Amino acid sequence: MSHRHLAARGLGVSFEGRAVLQGLDLDVPSGRRLALLGANGSGKTTLLRTLSGAQRPAAGAVLVDDVPTDYGRRGLREHRQVVQLVAQNPDDQLFAADVFRDVSFGPLNLGLPEEQVRARVEDALAVLSIEDLADRPIHELSFGQRKRVAIAGALAMRPCVMLLDEPTAGLDPQGVDEMVGALEAMLAARTTVVIATHDVDFALAWADAVAVLRRGAAVSGPPGDVLSDAALVGEARLRQPLVLQTASRLGVDARGVRDVDSLAAAVRRRFDGALSAPARDEASARPRPPEG
Ligand SMILES: Nc1ncnc2c1ncn2[C@@H]1O[C@H](COP(=O)(O)OP(=O)(O)O)[C@@H](O)[C@H]1O
Ligand SMILES: [Mg+2]
Repeated sequence: MSHRHLAARGLGVSFEGRAVLQGLDLDVPSGRRLALLGANGSGKTTLLRTLSGAQRPAAGAVLVDDVPTDYGRRGLREHRQVVQLVAQNPDDQLFAADVFRDVSFGPLNLGLPEEQVRARVEDALAVLSIEDLADRPIHELSFGQRKRVAIAGALAMRPCVMLLDEPTAGLDPQGVDEMVGALEAMLAARTTVVIATHDVDFALAWADAVAVLRRGAAVSGPPGDVLSDAALVGEARLRQPLVLQTASRLGVDARGVRDVDSLAAAVRRRFDGALSAPARDEASARPRPPEG
């Protein structure tokens, strides 16, 4: 999948006179992992819907390779071939009787020949590791399975950018691992992956960049930098990731700390140094054996 550059400039979206997004600028780094972070009601879903073309902004623009989205029928059709949104609740998206028919709906709608549709569906099911579900009725599937089918449906459109609203919400730890595996497979196929989440620990461990929603605008940057900004995190009604809090309490340099393993390495660097320094001093201070 070729890289296309998705961006937002000066976005404004209001509901019933209340501004949800206001002057929001965002650059989605092509081919990378971006996490949109914000408290409940901060506008994550609204932003994803606006980026996908489902919500038309009252102000500003969504741009693909610097070209503003055209909200006519044809323009939106083109936009959806570049950007696909997966809703938080799979049941908002799934409607066919079985998995194969649901995942093939989008490609069929593009007017592709049958064998191309079949190839796209098979590829998408493989990325989500759900080939074995192809013939299953949707209503028999678990929540996690329905979630993966909904993602496969978006992936079968072969978008450059996948927007996923809370993809790990409601999944058990194994389900989260499988979801991360699917996201990695998308990235390996050169798809840009954007997720919305309020899970700061997950965002720090997973993302290449984060954008924190605060007062309708986004503050973007490297996850470690943005999430160690205590004032920003507090204003956004989030908390700092636990590994950054731990590093700070231990007086450990938090640069490069993203998860338990990198925290452990930073702690070892800090305290091994403290322990081995006196040991070395002792060795050098030890009386030398008499010469000769
Ligand atoms: N279609 C809508 N009509 C009215 N208010 C809405 C609509 N969609 C979202 N909102 C409001 O916009 C705010 C942001 O919602 P949302 O984007 O869903 O936030 P998040 O996904 O971060 O929880 C909330 O106050 C929500 O109630
Ligand atoms: Mg939401």
